[in-house]
Amino acid sequence: MSEKENGSGAHYAVHWQDEDNINPPAEFIGQANMTDPGVFDRFSLDKFPECFKEFADLLDWDQYWHTTLDTSDAPCWNWFVGGKLNASYNCVDRHLAKYKNKTAIHFVPEPEDEPVVHMTYQELYQRVNETAAVLRDFCGLKAGDRVTLHLPMTPELPITMLACARLGIIHSQVFAGFSGQACGERIWDSESRVLITIDGYYRNGKLLDHKSIGDVAVEVALKEGQEVDKVLVWQRYPGKYASASPMVEGRDYFVNDLLKQYVRVRVDPVPMPAEGILFLMYTSGSTGRPKGVQHSIGGYLAYVAWMSKVIQDIHPEDVYWCMADIGWITGHSFIVYGPLAIAASSVIYEGLPTYPDAGRVWRIAEELDVNIFHTSPTLIRGLRKAGPDEPAKYNYKFKHMTTVGEPIEPEVWKWYYKVVGKGKAAIVDTWWQTETGGFLCSTIPALSPMKAGSAGPGVPGIHPIILDNDGNEIPAGAGKAGNICIKNPWPGLMQTIWKDRDRYVATYFERYCKDPNSKDWRDWPYMAGDAAVMAADGYVRILGRIDDVINVAGHRLGTKEIESAALTVEEVAEAAVIAAKDEIKGVVPDLYVSLKPGYEASQELAAKISGAVSTVVGKIARPRQVFIVPDMPKTRSGKIMRRILASISNRADVGDVTSLSNPEIVEQIRKQVQD
Ligand code: PRX
Repeated sequence: MSEKENGSGAHYAVHWQDEDNINPPAEFIGQANMTDPGVFDRFSLDKFPECFKEFADLLDWDQYWHTTLDTSDAPCWNWFVGGKLNASYNCVDRHLAKYKNKTAIHFVPEPEDEPVVHMTYQELYQRVNETAAVLRDFCGLKAGDRVTLHLPMTPELPITMLACARLGIIHSQVFAGFSGQACGERIWDSESRVLITIDGYYRNGKLLDHKSIGDVAVEVALKEGQEVDKVLVWQRYPGKYASASPMVEGRDYFVNDLLKQYVRVRVDPVPMPAEGILFLMYTSGSTGRPKGVQHSIGGYLAYVAWMSKVIQDIHPEDVYWCMADIGWITGHSFIVYGPLAIAASSVIYEGLPTYPDAGRVWRIAEELDVNIFHTSPTLIRGLRKAGPDEPAKYNYKFKHMTTVGEPIEPEVWKWYYKVVGKGKAAIVDTWWQTETGGFLCSTIPALSPMKAGSAGPGVPGIHPIILDNDGNEIPAGAGKAGNICIKNPWPGLMQTIWKDRDRYVATYFERYCKDPNSKDWRDWPYMAGDAAVMAADGYVRILGRIDDVINVAGHRLGTKEIESAALTVEEVAEAAVIAAKDEIKGVVPDLYVSLKPGYEASQELAAKISGAVSTVVGKIARPRQVFIVPDMPKTRSGKIMRRILASISNRADVGDVTSLSNPEIVEQIRKQVQD
């Protein structure tokens, strides 16, 4: 691999030994949704694309589709063409006949003295309909319009998403931890004229003022040229305003007030084309501007429904808890759309997992009798550190557990398996991305053995291949890393990047497409942007990103976004972000800056730069440390050598630096950082 690729987050996994196989527990196999080994044959490449009918048939269609895959606009694939359906109907209405009194959403507020809300499918149906009436009749929104949501982890978030989907409105949910600036840029890019937010929510024992962030977002969007004419504000406690920021007359409205006009109103679900747009989800890439990943209605929903059933093994009577935030793709696919499409009971927890103490997660699991648990390596590491013996104190039993979002160290995996799962749960390590809608690599929990630290082979219908930089296949078992690609399209893959088809083609396909005019899917392998190795048994181990993206606590951040935030500080001349290893979060950003002439380094300045990153991007992007250095190590052509800075932060060998234009600076920076 090139130097740049080695300089990515990849380095820390590459030394792991291949681990032994562990078989899934017999008790799990006995009840699993998928125990037929013939599934791999049903989804072999020669059965492509018709095999995906099995996915589509999990849904109810208003009009059945006639063409499984249309490749005429390659590589923008159209799935289930001719079909019409409604995502909200599929996630709510169709379950009423059998499950109207079953819990759809268990909402666990952060304050432990507030009761858990068990919302049935009937109640969800009622609330989605009434909210849809507000969107349609009060806001005048219709199919194809975009709406930005900036909502935290309360039931109002899935209710609003499903209300949008009911009308064919495209929702763009921005993670609540993102700043007003970041939210405003996404409002602008998606051209939303309605923002939906909440007055406040709990995090770490505090009722945070959230509405004020929405005010900033509206201002930022306006400066960019997008006017927001309505801000809908949910209330954490209906009737009791929890924000210090004033409501703007004629612009801001309490949703709870508006709903009073729409009590028991029913809104017919709008039959939408399968290839219509369900939502946008902004994610970080190599350039500063986040990209609006655009997901379809039919293909996406069919994909996440099948994955929820087969890989998550969700049955309607299970209690399923995914600890991700709905503001990220994991929450969209595996808290909301996938589980609700198959009539699950899905848990939503508002707050910090370790609030008020390290036992909270296990108490919730015990109280609700959660039996499927889904989280990230960062959270597993954090829970292990905060209370390694806590799980044993609580009487819960998981049949199935998921890890997602980052590579998991075998040691951490083993704690998850033995202590959290008490040796009785099947574990799946699912590798996928915002762009891919659902899982790409994972074991099928009842069919394949688990291997600590490996995501497993491609899921049915996904055919991964590892390519070197020249496009040659690196065979399984070769022990060499390369770029992981998927040979074929699949229904959950994004349709394009919102308003930027060129960027879609350039980012994911250009490198390995031999004929840009080809309409044959075989010519368009999807390049994921991760480095990976494939073992002889086809199990894939993901090493990390090959681009300028770092995965902080499973949250994807572009180094360029953080660097440009630092450059908004007057004194800063140059900025470089690198991924520094961290015991809990996997990696964290370290920020190196040099100053314009005439300015002096100081602690106050470092704090100001760090503060600028929080304001522009959000607290999750705040650097672990800001190092103000006299100069950046540079190549003769003037390129900043981030790899060298990363080695310094990670106390690794900096290698040969003699070809730099300023080799002497390396030792100076090393002393400053390490001594
Ligand atoms: O580098 C891979 C890592 O997370 C990236 C995708 O981030 P995002 O779009 O935010 O989606 C996260 C949740 C799906 C990937 O390019 N990643 C995701 N899952 C795994 C992983 N790395 C290792 N193992 C995984 N299971």
